[in-house]
Amino acid sequence: MNKSTETPPSTVFNTCPPTLNIIGCGKLGRTLARLFSDAGLVSVGAIYNRKIENSQAAQAFIGTGRVISDIEQLSNQPAKLWMISTPDDVIKPSVEQLANLRGIDWKKATAFHCSGLKTSAELIALQKQGCAVASVHPAHSFASPEHSLSSFPSTVCTLEGNERAINILDTLFSAIGGQATTIKPEAKPLYHAATVMASNYLIALLGASEALLEKAGIEEQLASALLAPLMRQSLNNGLQVGPVNALTGPIARGDSNTLQAHITAIKQSVPELNSVYTSMGIQALKLAQQQGSLNVEQLATIEKILHD
Ligand SMILES: NC(=O)c1ccc[n+]([C@@H]2O[C@H](COP(=O)([O-])OP(=O)(O)OC[C@H]3O[C@@H](n4cnc5c(N)ncnc54)[C@H](OP(=O)(O)O)[C@@H]3O)[C@@H](O)[C@H]2O)c1
Repeated sequence: MNKSTETPPSTVFNTCPPTLNIIGCGKLGRTLARLFSDAGLVSVGAIYNRKIENSQAAQAFIGTGRVISDIEQLSNQPAKLWMISTPDDVIKPSVEQLANLRGIDWKKATAFHCSGLKTSAELIALQKQGCAVASVHPAHSFASPEHSLSSFPSTVCTLEGNERAINILDTLFSAIGGQATTIKPEAKPLYHAATVMASNYLIALLGASEALLEKAGIEEQLASALLAPLMRQSLNNGLQVGPVNALTGPIARGDSNTLQAHITAIKQSVPELNSVYTSMGIQALKLAQQQGSLNVEQLATIEKILHD
C-alpha cells in the first residue's frame, strides 16, 4: 500500500504540520525527525533522552525542537505525533511511563515505534487511552544520520497497527520518499531476521573474509582492494539475476577437493571460522542443487565434506 499519491499530508492531518514529540532521539530518531521537519511535514516538539547532551546533539542535528530533561515534563508538551525511538527493550517501559503522565489527551494522538521485531502491541498502554498506534520499520541502516538524509528515499517501510495510525504514517513516510507497505504482526520475527541477515551478517561476512586474508599474510590495504570489487560484483549479480543464477565457485562447479582444502586450512589457522564457512557452504549447496548442473554423487560428496 502507498497512499502518497492519493492523500496529501495536509489532508490527513487536516491542519498545519502536527507537533512531533520524540522519546529516544538517537540515530534513527534524529534522522527521521530532520527528514519530516525539512519537508515541512511536522513541527518538532519535545526531544527526550536520558542524557541531556544526547538530546542537545539531536536538537542541533534536527535544527529545531525543545530539549526536556525529565519525561514528566511531557505532560505540558501536547503533540499529535509521538515517536518512541528508544532501543527495542525500552519501548514498552517508556510507553508505560507516558501512559501514566497526567494531562495528555491521547484520543487525538498517534504513537509509533520503529522496531523491526516488536509490534504495535508494545504501545498497548497508550492504545487503551484512545491513542492510534503502529510500528513502522524502515529497512535502512541509520549508521550515519548525515548520510541517511540523502540515502533514505526509496527505503521500504513496513507498517502494522490500527488503521488510523497506518493511514497517517503511510502518508508521512511516503512523503519523505519511503515505500510504505503493510506487514502482518506475526510475520515480523522472520521479516526482521531476514533484514538482519541481509544487512548485519553481510558485514559479519566481510569481517570473516578479512580475518582469513590477514592469516594468509595479505596486508589490509590490499585486502580491501581485493574484496571491494569482488563483493560489489557478486552482490550486483545476485540482485540482478537471483542467487541461483549468480552462484559461481567451487561448490557450483562440484570441486570437492578445493572445498576440502579450504576447510583443512581454516581448521588449522582460524578454527572459529569453520562453522561460518561450512554453514554458508550448505546454503550455497542448496543453490547449486537448484542450478541442476551437479550430479547426485557430486552433491553427496560436497554435503559430506560440509557436515564432517
Ligand atoms: N539504527 C538503525 O539502523 C535502525 C534501523 C531500523 C530500525 N531501528 C529501530 O529504531 C529504534 C532506535 O534505534 P537507534 O539505532 O536509533 O538507537 P540509538 O541510536 O541507540 O538511539 C536510542 C536513543 O534512545 C535513548 N534512550 C535509551 N534508553 C532510553 C530511555 N529509557 N528513555 C528515553 N530515551 C532512551 C538513547 O539516549 P540516552 O542513552 O541518552 O537515553 C538514544 O538517544 C530501535 O527500535 C531500532 O530497532 C534502527
